[in-house]
Amino acid sequence: MRILLYTGKGGVGKTSLSAATAVRCAELGYRTAVLSTDPAHSLGDSFDRRIGSHLVELAPNLWGQEIDLLSQMDQYWGTVQGYLNALLMWRGMDSLVAEETAVLPGMEELSSLMQITALAESGQYDVIIIDAAPTGSTLQLLGFPDIARWYIEKIFPFQRKTLQLARPMVKRMTDMPLPDDKIFDSIEELVGYLERMSRLLGDATQSSMRVVLNPEKMVIKEAQRAYTYLNLYGYSVDAVICNRVFPRSLADRYFDTWKSAQSQNLELVHQAFHPLPVFEVPLFTQEVMGIQMLQQMAEVVFGPATTRGGQGDPTQHYYIGKPQEIYRVGSQYVLSLSLPLVERSDIQMHRSVFDELVIRIGNWKRNVALPTGLAKLEVAGAKYAEDRLNILFDIPESTPEIPEEELKPRRWEALTARFRRNG
Ligand SMILES: Nc1ncnc2c1ncn2[C@@H]1O[C@H](COP(=O)(O)OP(=O)(O)OP(=O)(O)O)[C@@H](O)[C@H]1O
Ligand SMILES: [Mg+2]
Repeated sequence: MRILLYTGKGGVGKTSLSAATAVRCAELGYRTAVLSTDPAHSLGDSFDRRIGSHLVELAPNLWGQEIDLLSQMDQYWGTVQGYLNALLMWRGMDSLVAEETAVLPGMEELSSLMQITALAESGQYDVIIIDAAPTGSTLQLLGFPDIARWYIEKIFPFQRKTLQLARPMVKRMTDMPLPDDKIFDSIEELVGYLERMSRLLGDATQSSMRVVLNPEKMVIKEAQRAYTYLNLYGYSVDAVICNRVFPRSLADRYFDTWKSAQSQNLELVHQAFHPLPVFEVPLFTQEVMGIQMLQQMAEVVFGPATTRGGQGDPTQHYYIGKPQEIYRVGSQYVLSLSLPLVERSDIQMHRSVFDELVIRIGNWKRNVALPTGLAKLEVAGAKYAEDRLNILFDIPESTPEIPEEELKPRRWEALTARFRRNG
C-alpha cells in the first residue's frame, strides 16, 4: 500500500498532479483512491466532473473524494469535549472560555486524517493519493497527530486503570467531575486512531510526500521551507515537481526575460533540493482538465506507462532518506534528524520536563519524544552538519549497553496504555 501526498504553495499545480498520478496508477492496475483535503476542493475540476464528499468511481480502478472537513469531529471528540468542558468549569473557568479551551486545536484536520487511515486500513486500495491544501494547512494536517498527542497527554492526567480503582475514594474527597467509562472509551478510540495515522504517514516505506513548485523565486522559497518542516515532523519527501516550465521551443521574444529567469531558477531548484530528484513539467498550451490532459501530464512527469513496478510507475520510491536515526559513536549516542535547508542558527532546541526534545524552526515546532533509552541520558550538545541535526547524549561509564528495544522512537505507547481498558 502506498500513500502519496502532494503539497506546495497555492496554485502551483498540486491538484493537477494528484489527479494525473491517480490516472496513471489506475491505468497500471492499482486500485487507486484520490482524496482532496483542501477545503477549497477543485479535484472535480481536474476530472471535469462533480466529485463531492463521498467516494465516487471516476474510471476503472479509480475513485475520488473531496473530504468534508467537519464530518467526523463530533463523533470522536463530542463526548470528550463535553467532559472537558465540565472539568474546566469545575476549575473555575468561565463557561465560554471552557467551551473554547475544550476544542482540540487543529481539529478540522481530524476528518481528513481519519478518512485516509480508514481507506488505508480497508485493504481495498493499493494507492491513496492526497491532494493537500497549500503548504501551511498541510503542515497543520501532518502535525496534527503530534499536537493532539501532546494536548491529550497534558490535559488528561488520568490513568484509566488507577482511576477505576480509586474512584470511590476520590469521589469522597472532591466533587471534581471524573471521566466515566464512556469518555475513556472515546479517548481510547481517538488516541488509537491518531496513533495509527501517525504511524502510517510517518512510515517512509508506505508514505511519500512530494513537493510541487513553479520556477519562481518566491514559490521556491516556500517549497524549501515546506521541505524543511516536513523533515522536522519526520515525514519522508521523495521528489520535487517543478511545474509550468516554459518549453524551450517557445520562440516569442516577449517571454525572453521570463525564460532566462526560469532557467536560472530551475538551476536553483536542482541545487537546493539535491539529492531529491526534480521532475520538470512544461506549461501546456491549455489548462489540465479531463482524463486525456491528465494522461498527458502523467506521461511528462513519470514517463511512458510500462508495467507495475516499472519505469513509469508513480508509486516507486524516487528517493529514500533517513528522517531519524540513532547510533552509537564511542561513549555517545547520536540522535540524528534530517533537517535540510536551514541554518544552524535558525534551529532552537531545548529539553522539556516530559522527556521530549522541543525543536523549533520559525513558526513550527516538534516535540520529539525521546526513546526511553535516551531519556535517561544527559544531552551533551548538538551539531549541525550535512543537512542533519545530530544531538549527542553522553553514556555514563556505569551504563551497560542500552537494549535495542529502548532506542526505538517512542511516540504513542505511553499514551495509548494510559487510556486502555486493561492497559
Ligand atoms: N503545466 C501546466 N500547464 C498548464 N496549465 C496548468 C499546468 N499545471 C496546472 N495548470 C492549471 O493551473 C490551474 C491551477 O492548477 P491546480 O489546481 O492543479 O493547482 P493547485 O496547486 O492545486 O492550486 P490550489 O492551491 O488553488 O489548490 C488549473 O487551472 C490547472 O489546470
Ligand atoms: Mg488544488
